[in-house]
Amino acid sequence: MDGNGRWAQARGLRRADGHRAGAETIRPVMERCGQHGVEVLTLFGFSTENWGRPHTEVQSILKLGRDFIDTHLDELDAAGVQLRHLGDLDRLPGFLRGRVARAVERTRDNSKLILNLAFNYGGRADIVEAVQSLIRDGVAAEDVTEEAITARLATAGLPEPDLLIRTGGETRISNFLVWQAAYAEYYFTDALWPDFDAGEVDAALIEFSRRQRRFGLVPNGDDEESLPAESGS
Ligand code: FPP
Repeated sequence: MDGNGRWAQARGLRRADGHRAGAETIRPVMERCGQHGVEVLTLFGFSTENWGRPHTEVQSILKLGRDFIDTHLDELDAAGVQLRHLGDLDRLPGFLRGRVARAVERTRDNSKLILNLAFNYGGRADIVEAVQSLIRDGVAAEDVTEEAITARLATAGLPEPDLLIRTGGETRISNFLVWQAAYAEYYFTDALWPDFDAGEVDAALIEFSRRQRRFGLVPNGDDEESLPAESGS
């Protein structure tokens, strides 16, 4: 959800105001995704690298996480949204940790839409933790397969992302779902996150629908060897 800071600066506001506007963008985006039949939506709210930002900015983002749950949990639960958390919960302050844990527990049986909140999340750390847990469980080296790692990531049990959207004009993924997004389609837009509205969701999904996904295969699976030999050969 990139571009909050620039959105605020362009208006002579503080970066924290940009993050607040960014938090307000989440609900309409979620609603639009739901209307389009999206089943899993993952939002990158706070990366493991974001701890390096100024203390006041870090605090403002963490508090927005808390406020988001306080403001929207009843409504999300009633709408059948299952909230999940991706990342290291332990390092989050108690005021956020407890709320996230309770929200996850409360909505665990909902199935209309899964909303993953990546908060204190890093893609590489996700992989490292998965491998560490395999080692702790004494899994033999030959059993450390892609499936075994996938099953121990924060996203265990969920489908791989089809589409990865980055707002704010940057064309990198910054340690987001690095394992899971191996075959995702990437969509980069200059729109700053607070400006990412229903129309922007539509534009991203229209672009996605135009992409031809091959997953490393040839387009129609024809076996050239089995084609009739050219005449004269
Ligand atoms: C990146 O934009 C944005 C963040 C690091 C924070 C995103 C947080 C929220 C939208 C609110 C809280 C989240 C939830 C899930 C309730 P940036 O600040 O790097 O923007 P810039 O590149 O314009 O400076």
